Amino acid sequence: MSTSWLKNSVFYEVYPQSFYDSNSDGIGDLRGIALKLDYIRELGCNALWINPIYDSPFMDAGYDVRDYKKIAPRYGTEDDFKHLLDEAHKRGMKILLDLVPGHTSDTHEWFKAAKTGYPSEYDNRYIFTKSVWDAPPEYRLMCGVCERDGNYLVNYFSSQPALNYGFHEVKYPAWQFSADSPEAWETVEALKDIMRFWLDKGIDGFRVDMADSLVKNDDEKISTAKIWRDIRLMMDADYPDAVLISEWSNPLRAIVNSGFHADFYLDHQGNGYNSLFRKRFGDGDNLSFFADHAHGDIEEFLADYTPAYLCSREHGYISFITNNHDMPRAPFYMSDEIIRLSHAFMMTMPGVPFVYYGDEIGMIYRTDLVSKEGGFSRTGSRTPMQWDHTKNLGFSDADEDMLYLPVDNRPEAPTVENQAGVQGSIYENLKALIALRKEFPELSNDSEFEIVYAKSHDYPFAYRRGSFVAFVNPSDDDRTIEYRMDGAEVAYTIGDWSADENTVTINARSFLLIKHS
Ligand code: NOJ
Repeated sequence: MSTSWLKNSVFYEVYPQSFYDSNSDGIGDLRGIALKLDYIRELGCNALWINPIYDSPFMDAGYDVRDYKKIAPRYGTEDDFKHLLDEAHKRGMKILLDLVPGHTSDTHEWFKAAKTGYPSEYDNRYIFTKSVWDAPPEYRLMCGVCERDGNYLVNYFSSQPALNYGFHEVKYPAWQFSADSPEAWETVEALKDIMRFWLDKGIDGFRVDMADSLVKNDDEKISTAKIWRDIRLMMDADYPDAVLISEWSNPLRAIVNSGFHADFYLDHQGNGYNSLFRKRFGDGDNLSFFADHAHGDIEEFLADYTPAYLCSREHGYISFITNNHDMPRAPFYMSDEIIRLSHAFMMTMPGVPFVYYGDEIGMIYRTDLVSKEGGFSRTGSRTPMQWDHTKNLGFSDADEDMLYLPVDNRPEAPTVENQAGVQGSIYENLKALIALRKEFPELSNDSEFEIVYAKSHDYPFAYRRGSFVAFVNPSDDDRTIEYRMDGAEVAYTIGDWSADENTVTINARSFLLIKHS
């Protein structure tokens, strides 16, 4: 065995609190996920990433971990987790948990001991300045809030103190440990201990939260990469089938330098993902390549993606995501028609794609909700999964006011029930594309990605994957390019196309996948 299973995987991201409530308390749970494994497999996904399920005060939806080795009671018990893992493995499916290495909750036992001011073995587990009057403005410090005479560095929200992996450049030797210090490496050992705990239970790896955030003053991420390489050695030696997938969005640093098996392509201002799908200014003009009345620029994507792909392809995979729990869902930016084209593109590109729960039916981004558990603007992408037309759209039997978040009560709300089996639905389109990707490994990672036609501010975009060529035209105009079909077979279409001996026309808002013999 080895991590080769990753090569042809398609993942499904489960936000556990909103997926399926098996015990009618209004919140999704582990038994609920187990009950829906067949659904996920039927869609074609063979691996799951589950957002944090650990004990937490939920100031950041579980990314504020109180106890890394305990399941949050609201999700179930250790037995429920074992049941889920067994059921997944029985079906040949993999499960990744979410590893939060950069910070804990301020209610974690380590932090509770560290902040008292009394000596404890966790004095150096976090980053405290020497005294409360010592607060250099370049750091995000919580000041004057604990008994210990010092301020502590936070990694994300105020309730998430940064763990101490040291500083690459030590500016204040009075309180900053070097990244090579024994104190910093004690934290690494503590992290490995947590990882072993779950890997020993048989999980298939981790999605790693804010993987670049470990060592401070480490602009080039040199010391941070050193830690991950060390962890990768542990994985290769003791857990050779398990994978690490980073939230980083920098394949050179994450995959090549740090040893991650895959890295997410995230929506970062100005990057290729943003230019493809999310380049919209407020409520104004949408300049994404995939948009209604599209007038984007494919060269912006290629300038970012191609070098990242070329430098990392020998070492790991770039993960396209339909969305995740941190971004507005796609319908906020584009119509269902364009979403289907974007899925066709993602499922015919190299890498390891991730489908965010509910994206397979086009669930919307809600802008009418107040923040839940530190979600803020992200809350609207975290609403309950929409299964069918029954109570709470099949998510839960609980009374409406007990639900984790309200369900989409619009009469036109998409559900699995009203999309499955309906030709042309987002669901059936995605399912067919995943099936094609599985049937022909050339479409996942058994072949190179090569550009066939890409012009700045022009459509279509055409690319070769082995014996396949994909043409995608989200614009409002039919587009003709020189291309010889040479008797190629049509493997998949959305919309219309036509060809003569030397040209191919891809109609407005259409996709064509052909296979040469
Ligand atoms: C990234 C996670 O995806 C996000 O949901 C979380 O709030 C932050 N990291 C902090 O852990």
